[in-house]
Amino acid sequence: MTKQFGLAEYDSAAEYVRTRIEGRRIQLAGERPVGLILGSGLNPLAEAIEGGEAIPFGEIPHFRSSTAPGHAGRLIVGRLAGQTVAAMQGRIHFYEGYTVEEITFPIRVMRRLGVERLILTNAAGGLNPRFRVGDFMLIVDHLNFVGMAGHNPLIGPNMESIGTRFPSMTHAYARNLRQTALACAQELGITLRQGVYAFLAGPNFETPAEVRYLRMVGADAVGMSTVPEALVAVHAGMTVLGISTITNAAIDHLDSEGDTSEEEVMETGRVVVPRLTALITRILEQI
Ligand code: HPA
Repeated sequence: MTKQFGLAEYDSAAEYVRTRIEGRRIQLAGERPVGLILGSGLNPLAEAIEGGEAIPFGEIPHFRSSTAPGHAGRLIVGRLAGQTVAAMQGRIHFYEGYTVEEITFPIRVMRRLGVERLILTNAAGGLNPRFRVGDFMLIVDHLNFVGMAGHNPLIGPNMESIGTRFPSMTHAYARNLRQTALACAQELGITLRQGVYAFLAGPNFETPAEVRYLRMVGADAVGMSTVPEALVAVHAGMTVLGISTITNAAIDHLDSEGDTSEEEVMETGRVVVPRLTALITRILEQI
């Protein structure tokens, strides 16, 4: 399979970002910037980033634009909780029609900007019956159904200068970042569950049979993002922290009165913003 992007494309995007922040109070070199991907409805956290430059995805060479609701589609470089951050306010998804290579392009650009630690957030349906809507779940591991179906961003000629051909995923979600996140949650009195995230293509929500199946194979939450980004980040030697917001309880029986809807997902996303902002801010202070 031929690759759409090579080092030249990653470098030209990274160079463009550097040019945009030139002359600003912010700088990346020597700062160990933290990468952030803010999923559905997390716009307010992006607004807390200070002194930065907000660059619409469409202005960065080779970046694709986000068409998803609740995803502003900007890369913001600035200061948050004592750290320099490169934050994607909104992400791009496989269900928008982009390839997994396109989805993960920004991750490699972040790596070239010096990002070694990446915090991924998303909205997910709860499968674990103990989870409640509005809970957060620390991603401890994942099930990559889209990858199993052949859509893996690491397929194709390997770029050895970025990472190894056969990266291990045993510790994809770094233990030290997980421990920090758990300690921060405890300190703030925020419930942080732990579980396995299943990545499905979407854009439809799951059928009741699929929900029962996902539970049976060990998934605790299900969503339509995050895993390709984690793969590319781990391949590039980054440490990854993943936090899902359980925005809805996945429905496992046909005679359910309720139904899963984008409105419910967005509404829960809105309600949790202050708690998630507090949690991520505290984690940034601690890492
Ligand atoms: N399924 C898949 N993706 C989701 C869900 C869901 O129930 N909720 C939020 N994103």
